[in-house]
Amino acid sequence: MDVKFPEGFYFGSATSAAQAEGAHTADHKAPDIWDLWFEEEPYKFHGGVGPADTSTFFEHWREDIELLHETGHNSFRTSISWSRLLPDPEGDPNPEAVEFYRNVFGTLRDEGIEPFVNLFHFDMPVALQERGGWESREVVDLYERYARIAFELFGDVVKRWYTFNEPIVHVECGYLQQYHYPCKVDPKAAAQVAYHTALASALAVRACHEVLPDAKIGIVLNLTPAYPRSENPADARAAHIAELFANKSFLDPSVHGAYDPELVELIKKHGLMPVVDETDLAIILDNTVDYLGVNFYQPLRVCARASLPNPEAPFMPTYYYDVYAMPGRRMNPHRGWEIYPHALYDIAINLRDNYGNIEWIVSENGMGVEGEEKFRGSDGAIQDDYRIDFIKEHLTELARGIDEGSNCIGYHLWTFIDCWSWLNAYKNRYGLVELDLETQERRIKKSGRWYKQLAESRGF
Ligand code: BG6
Repeated sequence: MDVKFPEGFYFGSATSAAQAEGAHTADHKAPDIWDLWFEEEPYKFHGGVGPADTSTFFEHWREDIELLHETGHNSFRTSISWSRLLPDPEGDPNPEAVEFYRNVFGTLRDEGIEPFVNLFHFDMPVALQERGGWESREVVDLYERYARIAFELFGDVVKRWYTFNEPIVHVECGYLQQYHYPCKVDPKAAAQVAYHTALASALAVRACHEVLPDAKIGIVLNLTPAYPRSENPADARAAHIAELFANKSFLDPSVHGAYDPELVELIKKHGLMPVVDETDLAIILDNTVDYLGVNFYQPLRVCARASLPNPEAPFMPTYYYDVYAMPGRRMNPHRGWEIYPHALYDIAINLRDNYGNIEWIVSENGMGVEGEEKFRGSDGAIQDDYRIDFIKEHLTELARGIDEGSNCIGYHLWTFIDCWSWLNAYKNRYGLVELDLETQERRIKKSGRWYKQLAESRGF
């Protein structure tokens, strides 16, 4: 065997409530921002497919857990829908949601599949967006309340928690780039949202440690190592600043409990300092995560800017760099993302050397492909050898990092069953299991069968 992982290594996959559950307003779930946005502007969603048309995990969770077995999972990440659990964010938990989540998490545990449960995956309840969303301090407090309720309700069966998935994404996409609701271009709000999210994460860590002293709580960050075009000092400086905004902005407060002073200086320089309560920084310092989830899809390649930024334009991190399309880079053309497995090794070493060798897991990695039906084999299953190769290449780099001492405990693929992907809806398929959108029938792909062998032999 060329690549072998340690005993107890987690093999599994990840999904999220809004992307998998379906039943988007059934069982007294209140709307989240995706329900609202789709109602307002359905044409923005690929194929006009909205959040009601997900893979119906809410109905099919029992048979889906069976499929988790058939594809070798010993662990599985999903999230709780805040607006399903607390349709009134200040009210009591929705009993139907409690029953659903208890059934899912309890069954996973009974079946020997470790549940990793995330509290927030881009799905702000509308009732709270109307009160300012992450711009509002009140929402931070209500998030802490929600987290505490979740720990109390499910802590007997869930031992691994996450506070947020990819927090930089709702900051950038919601407040700078218009890929998420509320589609603002407002750098000052973005800074406040980023800061409130880091604070909310620390408050949830504190609550988890109080309510569930034996559980572990982390945060899922999408780390995109910033590589300079060249060793030229101007390119190197561009990469250094890109790294501050893209990665260190959440990595440092989550793991070190404090922001990098250079990032704070830049935020000040651009007049974007958020409103900070006196005691907040101590909360962030005292409540760092127990472990990290790392989502990795693509690197960030940058170079020195070719032109001066427009001083009147709203501030974006690209004020300091241009995104660089490296000649000869390997691309996943369906998603438009570069494929660069070596970055996973670099992440492993960075966490080992600069973040106290914190325990971490690859919490997402995967390949979205459009038009997979054309790869259907004579047995009816999609022959997605490209996905198997993609996973192998990434695992090879990961194993190298682990051999050199990085404290990685598992690998979660994105994703289990083809799922609904925000504005991209069902354009690209990521699953180990194919979903027939018409019939909701599930069919294991070649990669799903291979994943089981991988997990059973802990390598390939
Ligand atoms: C991650 C998210 O950024 O990437 C997932 O956590 C998302 O929610 C996944 O679905 C794949 O990206 P996309 O945009 O192709 O769905």
